[in-house]
Amino acid sequence: MSDTPKLNQRPEWTALADHAKGTLPHPDLRELFAQDPGRAERYVVRVGDLRIDYSKHLVTDETLALLQELAAATGVSGLRDAMFRGERINITEDRAVLHTALRAPRDAVIEVDGENVVPKVHAVLDKMAGFADRVRSGEWTGHTGRRIRNVVNIGIGGSDLGPAMAYEALRAFTDRSLTLRFVSNVDGADLHEAVRDLDPAETLFIIASKTFTTIETITNATSARSWLLDGLGGDEKAVAKHFVALSTNAEKVADFGIDTANMFEFWDWVGGRYSFDSAIGLSLMIAIGPDRFREMLDGFRIVDEHFRNAEAPANAPLLLGLLGVWYGDFLGAQSHAVLPYSHYLSKFTAYLQQLDMESNGKSVDRDGNPVQWQTGPVVWGTPGTNGQHAYYQLIHQGTKLIPADFIGFARPVDELSEELKAQHDLLMANFFAQTQALAFGKTPDEVRAEGVPEELVPHKTFRGNHPTTTVLAAELTPSVLGQLIALYEHKVFVQGAIWNIDSFDQWGVELGKVLAKRVEPALTEGADVPGLDPSTAALVAAYRELKEV
Ligand code: F6P
Repeated sequence: MSDTPKLNQRPEWTALADHAKGTLPHPDLRELFAQDPGRAERYVVRVGDLRIDYSKHLVTDETLALLQELAAATGVSGLRDAMFRGERINITEDRAVLHTALRAPRDAVIEVDGENVVPKVHAVLDKMAGFADRVRSGEWTGHTGRRIRNVVNIGIGGSDLGPAMAYEALRAFTDRSLTLRFVSNVDGADLHEAVRDLDPAETLFIIASKTFTTIETITNATSARSWLLDGLGGDEKAVAKHFVALSTNAEKVADFGIDTANMFEFWDWVGGRYSFDSAIGLSLMIAIGPDRFREMLDGFRIVDEHFRNAEAPANAPLLLGLLGVWYGDFLGAQSHAVLPYSHYLSKFTAYLQQLDMESNGKSVDRDGNPVQWQTGPVVWGTPGTNGQHAYYQLIHQGTKLIPADFIGFARPVDELSEELKAQHDLLMANFFAQTQALAFGKTPDEVRAEGVPEELVPHKTFRGNHPTTTVLAAELTPSVLGQLIALYEHKVFVQGAIWNIDSFDQWGVELGKVLAKRVEPALTEGADVPGLDPSTAALVAAYRELKEV
C-alpha cells in the first residue's frame, strides 16, 4: 500500500471542490464572454491539424489553474514519461503500455526489458505493407488462382472496432474495387450477412485476436473456415491462401491451422483497445494502402510528441482530460457526448466507448482501494445532424449536465459531386449553431420578444450554459484521423492518472465470459448448471421451453 494521500484528500482537490461550490450555479457563459470576449481566441489549443476551441466551457482562468495544479500534484507528467519509456505501468498485468512505440520513427529507441522494440514494430509494418501491396495488386491470389476482392476481418473489441471505424472514416481513400466487411458478434447472423453475397474463391479472412482465445472470434473463424472449405470443394490447403492471423499468440494461431508465416505479430505491451495502429490495422492497410497507413501513423505521432512536450495549458490531451475531471468530479456530470459532424466518423464514438470505458471504468485505485471519487464517464453519441433530431432535446432542455465534443471539418471529401459538396456548409452551419445554442441558449425575454404567449415562454426558453469543445480541422485525412485517436488515447490516460486507476487492464469483462461458458451447456445440452441463481435458472428454463416450441 502506498502512503501517498488519497486523491480527494489532496489540497488541490479540496481547492477545486471549494472553487466549484463558490462558482455554483455554474459560471454563466454569457457573462464569461461579456467580461472577456478575448476568451474566444485565448481558449484555443492547436495540435497538428486540429484547432481545439474550449472557450465554451464552464471554466475561468482560475479553474484551469487549479486543474493544472491537480495534474501536477497527481504526477500525470511522471506517469506519462514512464509510459513513453516503456515502464510497466499496467500494474495488475505487470506490462508496459507502449502503443506509442507503434508509431515511433524507425530510428527511435524504446526498450522493454532491455530490448529495443522499434525494429520489431517496423519489421511487422514492412511485412504488412508487402502483403497489402500483393493483395491490392492481385499478386496474392486465392486457392483457385482468382484475385482477392473481398476482405473479411473477424475480431471483437479492440480487434474490430479500430479497423472498422477507420475503414469508414477513410472510405474516400480506399480502393473501391475491394469489399471490406467486419464480423465481431458471435450471433451467427453477423457472419451470415457478411459472407452471403461473397464468392469464397475471392475472399480473404483476417482473424484478428490478440490472445487468439476469444470465444466469439474463434467460433466465427471456425465457421468462416467451414464456409470457405464448403465453397471451394473441401481442400484444406485452401486455408493457407484465404486465412491470415493478427495476434500475439503464435502457438494458438498454429493450433487453429493458420500457417504462422501468414501471421502478423504484435506484443503484450499493446493493449487491445490501443492496438489498431499495430498489425490489427491490416484490413485498413489493405483498403487504403501502406502509404496512407503510414500517414495515419505520422498523425498519431504528432499528438504523441505534443502530449510529451507541450506545456499546460497548451497541452491538448491534458486539457481535455482535466475538463472531464472538472465536470465528472466537481460538477456532477455522468456522461460525455462525442458528436462528429462527419458521416465518415459514424463509428468513431463506438470506438471511443471501448477506449474510454474499458480503460477508465474502474472503481478501485492502483492500490486496490475503493475510489471515493467519480472515474470514467459514460461515452456516447452519433454523428450530427442525426442526433439533433433524436436526443439533442435532452441536452438542450433536459436536467442533466452533458459535456460534449463537436468534431467537424472545413472541407468535404474530394470525390463528392459539386452538388453534394455544397451541402457541406449546411452541415457545418448546424455544427456551429448547435454549440452556440447550447452555450448561450435563449432567455425568457428573448422568447417574449418574439411574441410567444406567456404560458409557452418556459417551454421555449433555453437555459444554455451547456459546455462543449469544438474540434475543427481542414479535412478528414489519414493523418487527421491518427491525430484524433491519439488525442483521445492520451486524454483517457490523463484521467486515469489523476484518478489513480489502472487504465490498462479490463478485469471487469472476465466474469461474464466465465459465466457464459458455464451456462452454455445448459442451453445446448440441457445439462444442469450447479450454482445457478434462481432468477437465471428460471430464465434458462424459459429459454429452453421456447426453443423447443
Ligand atoms: O473485451 C475484453 C477484451 O479483452 C478487449 O480488451 C479486447 O480488445 C477484446 O476482448 C478482444 O480480445 P482479443 O483481441 O484477444 O480477441
